[in-house]
Amino acid sequence: MTAELPALKGRSVVSLMEWTPEEIRQLLKTAQWMKANRKVVDTRQLLSGKHVALLFELPSTRTRVSFQVAIGQLGAEMVWMDWGSTQLGRGESLEDTARVLSRYVDGIVVRAKKHETVQVLRRFTTIPVFNALTDRAHPFQVLADALTISEEFGGWSDIKLAYLGDGNNMAHSYLVIGAKLGMHVTIAAPKGFEPAREVVQWARNESAMTGGSVTVTNDPEQAVFGADVLATDVFVSMGDEGDLERKREIMHKFQVNQKLMGLAKSQAIFLHCLPAHRGEEVTGEVIDGPQSKVWDQAENRLWVQKSTLAHVLAD
Ligand code: CP
Ligand code: NVA
Repeated sequence: MTAELPALKGRSVVSLMEWTPEEIRQLLKTAQWMKANRKVVDTRQLLSGKHVALLFELPSTRTRVSFQVAIGQLGAEMVWMDWGSTQLGRGESLEDTARVLSRYVDGIVVRAKKHETVQVLRRFTTIPVFNALTDRAHPFQVLADALTISEEFGGWSDIKLAYLGDGNNMAHSYLVIGAKLGMHVTIAAPKGFEPAREVVQWARNESAMTGGSVTVTNDPEQAVFGADVLATDVFVSMGDEGDLERKREIMHKFQVNQKLMGLAKSQAIFLHCLPAHRGEEVTGEVIDGPQSKVWDQAENRLWVQKSTLAHVLAD
């Protein structure tokens, strides 16, 4: 691991678009190694004496706890910053906040309503910025998902991943990681809820170089046919709560249920970044059933974040 640290040192993770396939594979390899050797490898010296701020504008369970635990296991200290109780909540600019934080801490993990917020923070800091979810991307979630897929299937080539539901931050991030790792990604979303055209186009171009492919459809059955991985997410993302009932009605056809699971390969797995709404985007039968890997997937957040923090922040 140590020999390859310098290449990743000091980097930000705003979008995985900026990371090469080799770099992403390195993060995942280290995560797998840390997980496999958790009982025998002491990582507490890696970031000893460092501080990492967690600046959150939106609620979180998994991301907040797994980053805090990862930071602790690496020997660093976490500084919790609830957006509304900082001066940001009273109108201090992001630029000034970024400049000030750069003088105190070694990295910033940020969950923000708008992707631009993370981009501005990155532009005005001199320290790495880690995107813990924006309206556009959720990079650490799909790194965890990629680790889960490799644990199940031994790699990513020839894997067919079908995502059903809203063309949101998760859909975009599946397109990005799928393109980087050479997977065949299909997004099935209702008309009007498809992922952003520029992300789809970017993923198509990138996939052409990695052996993957990208399909966008409005037909959930076509999407899941022969799939290895079925993934979904909440019908309504944080900050996108307007017109709830109408959205639920439109999305209902995209619910992952046993009938759709039956169209996928018999050894297919089910993934969900969580939180889940049983009876909406997924049935209880599927998420609590034998093909569901959501708890491994949630655990893997810890390992991919620990790996990334170590690669980026270790001296
Ligand atoms: N999957 C995920 O990011 O969960 P939280 O919103 O609980 O952090
Ligand atoms: N798409 C969801 C993901 C939650 C982890 C949201 O943005 O709310």
